[in-house]
Amino acid sequence: MQAQTGIRRRRVSSDRVIGLLVVVALAAVPRPGIAQKTNGLALTPPMGWNSWNTFGCNINEKVIREAADYMVSSGMKDAGYRYVNIDDCWHGERDARGFIRPDPDRFPSGMKAVADYVHSKGLKLGIYSDAGAKTCAGRPGSRGHEYQDALTYADWGVDYLKYDWCSTGELKAAEAYTTMRDALAASGRDIVLSICEWGTDKPWEWGPAIGHLWRTTGDITNCWDCVVDHGTWKSSGILAILDKQDGLRVHAGPDHWNDPDMMEVGNGMGEEADKAHFSMWAMLAAPLIAGNDLGKMDADTRTILTNREVIAVDQDSLGIQGYPFEKRGDIEIWFKPLAGGEWAMAVLNRGTGTRRVEFDWAREWVSDDHSHRAADFGNKKYRMRDLWRHEDAGTTAEPLSVDVPGPGVVMYRLTPQQR
Ligand code: GAL
Repeated sequence: MQAQTGIRRRRVSSDRVIGLLVVVALAAVPRPGIAQKTNGLALTPPMGWNSWNTFGCNINEKVIREAADYMVSSGMKDAGYRYVNIDDCWHGERDARGFIRPDPDRFPSGMKAVADYVHSKGLKLGIYSDAGAKTCAGRPGSRGHEYQDALTYADWGVDYLKYDWCSTGELKAAEAYTTMRDALAASGRDIVLSICEWGTDKPWEWGPAIGHLWRTTGDITNCWDCVVDHGTWKSSGILAILDKQDGLRVHAGPDHWNDPDMMEVGNGMGEEADKAHFSMWAMLAAPLIAGNDLGKMDADTRTILTNREVIAVDQDSLGIQGYPFEKRGDIEIWFKPLAGGEWAMAVLNRGTGTRRVEFDWAREWVSDDHSHRAADFGNKKYRMRDLWRHEDAGTTAEPLSVDVPGPGVVMYRLTPQQR
């Protein structure tokens, strides 16, 4: 009996040792995706183009290849745009094993060929899916297929996933997006995760650990000052979206950005409004995802989208989102701290008709509690650079007095003057 007991004891203890070794080994091996997003993929706000605002569901591989071509020939690539993002409606059916396939009529060459083409231009490919059973346009969503879909995207060579929130029923947003985060990490490919949950469940609170950017609002629409009621949902013009960013800047920074949605620049609002829209997205350190028809882009639109001085404000390495410093009716004066002690300033005219705006630097002390940065304009002089005229605009030694078109913007970069 004793011997048997002894044997039994020995067996139990060796099982334990093996169990312990397994636990230790599992803990020691970094398991991709278990607890982290893939870090470092969006140290500055992502820049690119997305098919939805212009093409809606009318997409195919020609549209996507041409967008890549135009992104290069228009100079957008040289200005920093990288992602060519396919939005909703690329999907076909799932195969017998549950793997998603692109619509064979729209993407006859397959998605890998499209990705190869986009990559051959030095660009990156983005794709779209949804955490629910169906996408917002009724195509197959990823629910229950998250790991399969992430593997498929990785296999195709996808670099960016916009993950939407239709047909999600009782799903909890943070959990559903965590599942896709882990699936992407486990796929072994670096894929940016763009959370598109419309701000409903405060993604700025849980998004930073899960994705690289998160939509803060419902859909944008192509107008300066309007909200369009579609019955079950509403879309918002530029001002309405801008106002909804209030208070969110503390949540954003390198690798985790507030996303006020893709741009409507070049979609018909007019040159000054488009400049203001683009400037304010830069002040917000927003992702700069163009949404216009790149093939039909006129010279004004191209000039706006490729304004490198404004883009540099958006892409500043500190990644601090700007804020409204002062509001005077339709006039808003915004500041954004930049690296090296520089600041960006935007004077926004929300209304119609040109307005003269005065700003007496000597009286202003601009301090930012969030970033703990301050500009003592009374005691320190800054050189001013007009970022739309591309010319020097004096210094802060003289009070500013400037005409701002309405709707429109005047935007400066302020550089501390060496003594
Ligand atoms: C919406 C999303 C849009 C677009 C659309 C596609 O939910 O906010 O940006 O992706 O779905 O159906």
